[in-house]
Amino acid sequence: MHDRIVLKAPWELALMRRSNRLVAETLQALARRVGPGVTTLELDRFAESHLLAHGARPAFKGYRNYPFTLCTSINEQVVHGLPSARKLEEGDILSLDMGAVVEGYHGDSAITVPVGRISPEAERLLRVTRECLERAIAAARHGARLTDISGAVQGHAEANGYSVVRVFVGHGIGKELHEAPQIPNFVDPERGRGPLLKPGMVLAIEPMVNAGGPEVRVLDDKWTAVTADGSLSAHFEHTIAITKNGTEVLTMLEGAGA
Ligand code: MF3
Ligand code: CO
Repeated sequence: MHDRIVLKAPWELALMRRSNRLVAETLQALARRVGPGVTTLELDRFAESHLLAHGARPAFKGYRNYPFTLCTSINEQVVHGLPSARKLEEGDILSLDMGAVVEGYHGDSAITVPVGRISPEAERLLRVTRECLERAIAAARHGARLTDISGAVQGHAEANGYSVVRVFVGHGIGKELHEAPQIPNFVDPERGRGPLLKPGMVLAIEPMVNAGGPEVRVLDDKWTAVTADGSLSAHFEHTIAITKNGTEVLTMLEGAGA
């Protein structure tokens, strides 16, 4: 990751609208396929062929040798869950995270969806994590500071008795999947307010919220991050662009909520 924030030109933003929109459409199509008995590997295959059929390539596959198109994280899995022959079960929550590249420009988004009927506690975690992302996006305005985004996520998660994960962060995005700046979901009071948000910045904001404590550990597969205390975890991510005319959510389809 470079340490300089690269501002995008209008023509670059046009390409990023395409990659991000395709990610959003693919996630929506995946969400419709989720249900008891479905395997996460089937979802991965669908996602990959959908991207290729639309002239894009998966952004995660091959990134640091990651072997799949999707990250599929179930229940206490926080992020980077590996698609497998595991069948989804009624009551699970499933995070679907994916990136796509169109003509060299990246899109990135994640949603957490219920598998069939889920517990009220799981429902509440999904709702609050989605609200954390909505509040973070509302805070991401020309003239605000990076830590306004982080503070919005942390404040809402903690006010609801949850914890934000610290070891994984959001990020700038563009020609690279991960560009400067890093976007933590918490504020470090020692560190100042961070850079000013301004037109041309494209940011992937991704709250990861645990029902229990903030600690995570990585399984022996070297990828899957799980909550240390086994509590449920949810993850929502949108890629946004700060423009002269306001903040655009590049991974939101018309008529959809966050
Ligand atoms: N959404 C995550 C991120 O933006 C997923 C990266 S998964 C990896 O960092 F496989 F590409 F590493
Ligand atoms: Co991301």
